[in-house]
Amino acid sequence: IEDLTPIKDTQPYPVGVAIDSRETSGSASDLLLRHFDQITAENHMKPEAWYDEAGVFRAHPDADALMQFAVDNDLRVYGHVLVWHSQTPAWFFQNDAGEPLGTTDADKQALRDRLHEHIFAIAEDLSTKYGLFGDGNPLVAFDVVNEVISDSADFADGLRRSEWYRILGEEFIDLAFRYADEAFNQTYAAAGADRPVTLFINDYNTEQSGKQLRYKALVERLLARGVPVDGVGHQFHVNLAMPISALEQAITAFGDLPVTQAVTEFDVPTGTPVTEALLVEQGYYFRDAFRVFRAHAEDLFHVTVWGLTDGRSWRSSNGAPLVFDDGYQAKPAYHGIVDGE
Ligand code: XIL
Repeated sequence: IEDLTPIKDTQPYPVGVAIDSRETSGSASDLLLRHFDQITAENHMKPEAWYDEAGVFRAHPDADALMQFAVDNDLRVYGHVLVWHSQTPAWFFQNDAGEPLGTTDADKQALRDRLHEHIFAIAEDLSTKYGLFGDGNPLVAFDVVNEVISDSADFADGLRRSEWYRILGEEFIDLAFRYADEAFNQTYAAAGADRPVTLFINDYNTEQSGKQLRYKALVERLLARGVPVDGVGHQFHVNLAMPISALEQAITAFGDLPVTQAVTEFDVPTGTPVTEALLVEQGYYFRDAFRVFRAHAEDLFHVTVWGLTDGRSWRSSNGAPLVFDDGYQAKPAYHGIVDGE
């Protein structure tokens, strides 16, 4: 591993990286621990990850490995994600006979009960093993709902037509936050302790105007109803053609609301074929983006990149989206972040 200035020492907020257990040993682990002070589980805390083949709840072994890695190395953990339309078992939305739940009172209540059990089981598992209210607690936040905003302007409420929405309507979002608040607070708190886990809503394309308006309108409705949403996440899966001003505008758009914010899943593929010139352009992109993030540091709970090395990125086929290459070497993107003051 190169003897470089740690990224985390140069930024005014925690700097996170999405990983799985492959990054908890060897050179990947060395690189991670040098540069980052927070992790997100790329897949192993998603809804489906908490259930075995028979649908029985248990922590995924890799989720446990990541939590233990965080405890051992004094890293913060950003939880991802309690409720999503994707990577969720089909049986969540079915009755015992395997038929789709409908919208009768009984079917709606069945899904509410399932949501409650799901969130409380996760909170109890993490609390029991890692003492969420103790000094060594690594878990600082959770994405409570992910990608609930519609990509189209077709619906007055601006919400994605998911199975959650089909059965419960907008109510599932309120319930998810209320249950998470209870599960991470009253149920397990030592008397008088504050809930240690900041509750986020998270979405992509929030740098684009239509999505952003629908996102903000939902957050305003939630806050008006007293729903305990603490934070607004911007995934920022962008590319070199996305103006940096759009990233800044997304953050300032929420600046008048009583919430913190985060850049939760940053990556910037170059397009293919990847050339030296594009990697340099990407370096300037990271420089300019992190200048904006630093300028809004007061609003940011963390900034996270969605993967450690290019080949491990879910967007690697779009061209080298991350900060380090597959040989664990710093790319121009690293120098953009660290030297770009
Ligand atoms: C992606 C992971 O990176 C992939 O490994 C997985 O196959 C699919 O999910 N928005 C999110 C993340 O909130 O959970 C997604 O992660 C990327 C888009």
